[in-house]
Amino acid sequence: MDNSRLSIAVVGSGYVGLVAAACFAEIGHQVTCIDNDDAKVATLQAGGVPIHEDYLPRLLAKHRNHQIQFTTDLGSAAREAQLIFVAVGTPQGKTGNADLSYVDAVASEIARSIRQYTVIVEKSTVPVYTNEWIRRVIARNGVAAELFDVASNPEFLREGTAVVDFLHADRIVVGADSEQALALLRKVYEPLTSGEYYKAADAVRGPRSATSPTPILETSTKAAELIKHASNAFLAMKISFINAVANICEAVGADIEQVAQGMGSDSRIGPRFLNAGIGYGGSCFPKDVAAFRYVAEQVGLDFNLLGEVEKINLDQRVRFFQKIRSALWTFRGKRIGVLGLAFKGGTDDIRESPALEIIQLLMHEGCRIAAYDPAAMERTAEVIPADDNMQYVHDPYEAARDADALLILTDWEEFRDLDLGRLHDMLRYPIIIDGRNIYDPARMAKHGYTYLSVGRPATIHPRETLSELKIS
Ligand code: UGA
Repeated sequence: MDNSRLSIAVVGSGYVGLVAAACFAEIGHQVTCIDNDDAKVATLQAGGVPIHEDYLPRLLAKHRNHQIQFTTDLGSAAREAQLIFVAVGTPQGKTGNADLSYVDAVASEIARSIRQYTVIVEKSTVPVYTNEWIRRVIARNGVAAELFDVASNPEFLREGTAVVDFLHADRIVVGADSEQALALLRKVYEPLTSGEYYKAADAVRGPRSATSPTPILETSTKAAELIKHASNAFLAMKISFINAVANICEAVGADIEQVAQGMGSDSRIGPRFLNAGIGYGGSCFPKDVAAFRYVAEQVGLDFNLLGEVEKINLDQRVRFFQKIRSALWTFRGKRIGVLGLAFKGGTDDIRESPALEIIQLLMHEGCRIAAYDPAAMERTAEVIPADDNMQYVHDPYEAARDADALLILTDWEEFRDLDLGRLHDMLRYPIIIDGRNIYDPARMAKHGYTYLSVGRPATIHPRETLSELKIS
């Protein structure tokens, strides 16, 4: 085997594990991806791709059976690997803490298989001190200290752009407390940090290049663990902050887009993650904000700021629901078109999706829903089965058909350039309530809509009047 090619095991084939495994193969390593879900492994072995992610089908097709294998057998994979990346779930526990039982179980199993020096790398988002617990579990299972190290290499990829984020990261963070582990981790990422990968004719393109390769930041394991939690919490705070400002904009009649642009032009603040809307969701921010707050509590510190971040985020959904009420007056028997179910555009993930909570509130009030999402309908149907009150349709115009109002709940690209004339004809009343601010209110006015969004002045159809429509 060529000396730069490392033998890597990735435990977990969720969003992070599967993408990391495919990308490690793409940059030249020999990868085994392990999952304890037989059906998922069978799908992956047979050429299936269980998640919706750009470039992933291409990378898996390119490397399957050559540089990447799938198995349920953690023991043998761990025996062969020089590095084992642990990317299993760390769901939210009862008190907001991260439930680390999967990490614990994997660590014990790995311990039983180690025969040569191996680096166990935390890739899952875990609280500070997890590396020490993993180290203890492995030592307790009788593995000699010189046979292993535990390192932290948090992942910052976003769902929907995961492959490009992985191969063209803002930074790679490796936290290791031993030079031997650090040297191996540097080697893993060498094709990206040297820029060599970007020279390949078939490399996945993105912001990084041979002349501007991915920087690597080397830290202690604890600092790496904290960087991940603190980054997610900070981004969530940015979103809640802009949502709170959006609510002030609504109260005083200013436009949040102008305010966000003005704030974001300050390079110390930056323009990203300042999109007001119905709040953040997904499998990461809600859980990580809670877990980080718990970490602070455990070391005797109040991080109440994070409690406020969570509160603003949840209030944002309720405010949006009230906005719908302000436009429709009553709910029972109303037909509502819904565009978007996923927690954000570009993914089929519905975990903690604000869209689902809003739909459930509306259904509880007796509304009938016609929903469309480019990728997340199948998953949503498992949670909210199709019936007389919940219909899944095949395009945005069908969602609008005879609806009393149309809601935009996810920022999918394809929702940005709908045929507004056609949509208008389909709707029973030309009312659009946009939880993602993807349309320009002036344009909506021109097309004759009553258009409500977040933190921007409402556009009212000439037949309606402001006094009837109490927009709060
Ligand atoms: C997030 C982080 O952005 C990644 O860096 C991190 O690796 C990942 O969590 C993780 O810990 O695994 P992700 O959950 O995929 O990634 O999604 P984001 O693009 O960050 O969006 C999160 C939520 O915030 C979505 O519901 C999105 O709609 C919302 N959002 C985002 C806003 O409401 N406004 C914004 O300006 C940006």
